Amino acid sequence: MNNFDFYSPTYFVFGKDRENEAGKYVKMFGGSKVLIHYGGGSVVRSGLLDRVKASLNAENIAFVELGGVKPNPRSGLVYEGIDLCKREKVDFVLAVGGGSSIDSAKAIAAGVVYDGDFWDFYRGKRIEEALPVGTILTIAAAGSEGSPDSVITKEEGMFKRGASGDAIRPRFSILNPALTQTLPAFQSAAGITDIMAHLYERYLTNSEEVEVTDRMIEALLLTMKHEGPRVIADPNNYEARANIMWAGTMAHNNSCGVGRSQDWLSHTIEHELSALYDCAHGAGLAVTMPAVFKYELSHNVMRFAQVAVRVWGCQMDFAHPEVTALEGIEAFRNFLISIGMPKNFEELGAKEEDIPALVNVLCRGDGRDGNIYGFITLNEEDCTKIYKMMV
Ligand code: NZQ
Ligand code: ZN
Repeated sequence: MNNFDFYSPTYFVFGKDRENEAGKYVKMFGGSKVLIHYGGGSVVRSGLLDRVKASLNAENIAFVELGGVKPNPRSGLVYEGIDLCKREKVDFVLAVGGGSSIDSAKAIAAGVVYDGDFWDFYRGKRIEEALPVGTILTIAAAGSEGSPDSVITKEEGMFKRGASGDAIRPRFSILNPALTQTLPAFQSAAGITDIMAHLYERYLTNSEEVEVTDRMIEALLLTMKHEGPRVIADPNNYEARANIMWAGTMAHNNSCGVGRSQDWLSHTIEHELSALYDCAHGAGLAVTMPAVFKYELSHNVMRFAQVAVRVWGCQMDFAHPEVTALEGIEAFRNFLISIGMPKNFEELGAKEEDIPALVNVLCRGDGRDGNIYGFITLNEEDCTKIYKMMV
């Protein structure tokens, strides 16, 4: 196991009706003038936004609001949010929604206290300072409610890039599984896929002797395998929603990623798809992961065989472990298809003729050196082959 630091100070508030306590937690974490930041309208339609405002009013906390965050959030609204916060002397950013609203809120929070262009953080500068952020989560997926990360798309060039820093870890996150019951089945499935991707990205490691985190990841993958289909079959199953919601947070607050190198090639490759086609990140991952995993397989057959046996119930073929490994990848792919995810470029809305452009932005865009790094190192030729495997 590698040396590590683990710092995860988010205060989690979990369960039914807990969003009504938002005001109390904003106050606890020092907010007196809040930006409420949200997406395209689901929180308005569900009445959640009104409940959050009532809760702030009850604590005499002033607020301004900025809606309109799109899935795959854009830099344009971030600049708008930064200006609004400066003008209104906002001292706390409260995201109400999914990963996109949370990531946009984090970008605003970092940008408000930074003299330069906030995009510097998305070109590799670490975020050291930000306004405090709180979240009220409405979809179990990205894990942004407990992560130090934010992913934003810059309109010029459509670069989708991530930034990181403990300063943008939410001070508190309110998780009410009942809020996720209004999700369309496709969004629930995309969320389930993203959560499982966050687990696989950590499972695919070059570190030795990481039994504790291996076993934690396997437990969470088994939970997703059990609860995912229950939620698709019955969107109002609160208990299954609850298990998925907490699994989503645990999958990405890095409690099961410490002490080990991680992969993240599937995410890096997928981000170009959701940037170009504006598809759901989870749907892009469903198409990307099986191809990436098959490409990586020969690097460490036993790692893929282990997850095949322990999670997907495959029989270990000791003479041909690559057969077991492949069976595990197929089982995962079939699972994703069974919950309604796309299986190839066509179903995702991607086009084969765009592959050269995708590879160019992926490997060369915004200062990259021609390679992308993870479980293995991939060059442009490798990435071309991987995208072709998805067709
Ligand atoms: O915008 P509204 O109207 O709210 O609708 C959203 C949106 O259309 C809808 N939705 C959310 N909660 C709902 C709901 N509809 C009905 N009922 C509800 N309760 O679902 C759609 C998707 O929302 P979004 O916030 O985009 O989903 P998600 O949480 O999957 O976030 C995806 C973004 O997170 C990034 C992805 O790249 C993508 O941009 N990621 C962020 C990470 C992080 N910060 O740590 C890590 C992830 O790997 C990921 O890359
Ligand atoms: Zn993800």
